[in-house]
Amino acid sequence: MFRVLVLDSTKSRHHYWHPSVPLRTNHRETAMTDLVVRRLLVDMEAPIARHWCAGDAFRTALFNALSMSFPVGEQFFIDSVRDGFKALPPETQERFRAEVQGFVGQEATHRRLHGLYNAHLDKLGLANDWEPRARERLKMMEGVDVRHWLAITAANEHFTAIFADWMLHNADLLGDRDPRLKTLWLWHSAEESEHKSTAFDLYQALGGSHEWRVTWFRRVTLIFLTDTLRQTVSNLRQDGTLWRWSTWKSAASYLFGRRGLIRQTFKPWREYLQRDFHPNQQDSSASRRWLVEHSDQFAPVGR
Ligand SMILES: [Fe+2]
Ligand SMILES: [Fe+2]
Repeated sequence: MFRVLVLDSTKSRHHYWHPSVPLRTNHRETAMTDLVVRRLLVDMEAPIARHWCAGDAFRTALFNALSMSFPVGEQFFIDSVRDGFKALPPETQERFRAEVQGFVGQEATHRRLHGLYNAHLDKLGLANDWEPRARERLKMMEGVDVRHWLAITAANEHFTAIFADWMLHNADLLGDRDPRLKTLWLWHSAEESEHKSTAFDLYQALGGSHEWRVTWFRRVTLIFLTDTLRQTVSNLRQDGTLWRWSTWKSAASYLFGRRGLIRQTFKPWREYLQRDFHPNQQDSSASRRWLVEHSDQFAPVGR
């Protein structure tokens, strides 16, 4: 017997769920996505410059912080989606099989490349405090109902998808000092946009409630923003650029300026709270366009 948290809002929040009792499923048909796994044709062996992002200390520190979180985060997303798939009844599994394989392949590739990226950051002397903190926190999820894992993953995937779409629309802000890292970030963004509904659809198919979906979304928002801020500040401190006027000026403009990240993503962030929200309601054309225009920079795997 596992002690689990119940996601069905019609029941009390705690109960005992026996593995032989099937999870309540929701058979709403959802559009399937044909997810392609791509091998990126970039050289991740060459070292990374200290301020690779347009010579800008703040933007470099922010992107490096996000990269530090990916290997542990993406492994959690893979585990959530795999376990969610296994919890589906066989007839529903068929509907998800190809999409889940594509999702796992894409995230595993991101995880591997960001692992190589992070090894360079390590050589630059930047300590990754985010990863051990996240690992410790994730221990609390052991033995918990897979729908909670999926709700956390879907929330993170929404975050990633809106950030990805914003990044694809503002690609020039990545600068041209390291075309390889620019490609890495935009390829990752394009694929995040592509698979943004996989965890969400599995959560819905397993009967996850709206209440728990938004509860986890609020928690994930708080945790994600705090962790991003902590690691960015830590990277800047280690880089010796935390107290430079240019760093703060760049932060203000990049986050809150006319094209600012926070300013432009607040509306799509908030839409997740709506009861009838679905990730496909948000535009993904920038992702499709980038993949068509940059097809010389990757090779599809297994096709
Ligand atoms: Fe990813
Ligand atoms: Fe993802």
